[in-house]
Amino acid sequence: TTARTARLRVWRGDSGAGELVDYEVEAHEGEVLLDVLHRLQATQCPDLAVRWNCKAGKCGSCSMEINGRPRLSCMTRMSTLPLDEAITVTPMRTFPVVRDLVCDVSYNYEKARQIPSFTPEAGTEPGDFRMMQQDVARSQEFRKCIECFLCQDVCHVIRDHEENKEAFAGPRFLMRVSELQLHPEDTADRRAISQDEFGLGYCNITKCCTEVCPEHIKITDNALIPLKERVADRRYDPLVWLGSKIGLR
Ligand code: FES
Repeated sequence: TTARTARLRVWRGDSGAGELVDYEVEAHEGEVLLDVLHRLQATQCPDLAVRWNCKAGKCGSCSMEINGRPRLSCMTRMSTLPLDEAITVTPMRTFPVVRDLVCDVSYNYEKARQIPSFTPEAGTEPGDFRMMQQDVARSQEFRKCIECFLCQDVCHVIRDHEENKEAFAGPRFLMRVSELQLHPEDTADRRAISQDEFGLGYCNITKCCTEVCPEHIKITDNALIPLKERVADRRYDPLVWLGSKIGLR
């Protein structure tokens, strides 16, 4: 196979400090960036921290920023990157760095834990309910999520605004809230918490999340906008509003 020399500019450091370091690494035909990072690890810097697991675009571990774009390194073919310049490889910017390309993504797990789980009517037994295919398909699309957190990384609400993290769950978890809110067998009303606890109002549907999703989930169109529509129904329906004020709902 044909080999060439790739120039990588890799962020090295930890939570205290770091810098971009230049390396020259062999890259073979057909390889992805993760292969080349592994060769760098094997031949020049055994202490390079890089997280990965499946190398098949399914585990969501190898997220990083490649020439400034949030991507999975195992799904980024070297042949798609410009060969004449150094390839910049940096950790996801929205999360605190642990070391080199590895981030602490625990913010995401905290948000996941805060979402009330699926709540079918009490006494529902397995096999009791029937769903329209359309409702099944909606959940299935959202369930393709591999939790790579690239959508969370790219989202401008939190990307450079640490102070928004408390009030905003990010596209991945608003999508989960939306999945449950739109589920015909879920009895919980998630509209108030969408706004009050998960910060749906911060999202101004710029679709950056949809653009970086490696599973091509239409996060904005199919999850966030439908959730916004339902929240608006509740807010602007005077009877619902009155009901909520006098404690009916
Ligand atoms: Fe599993 Fe890249 S290593 S998604």
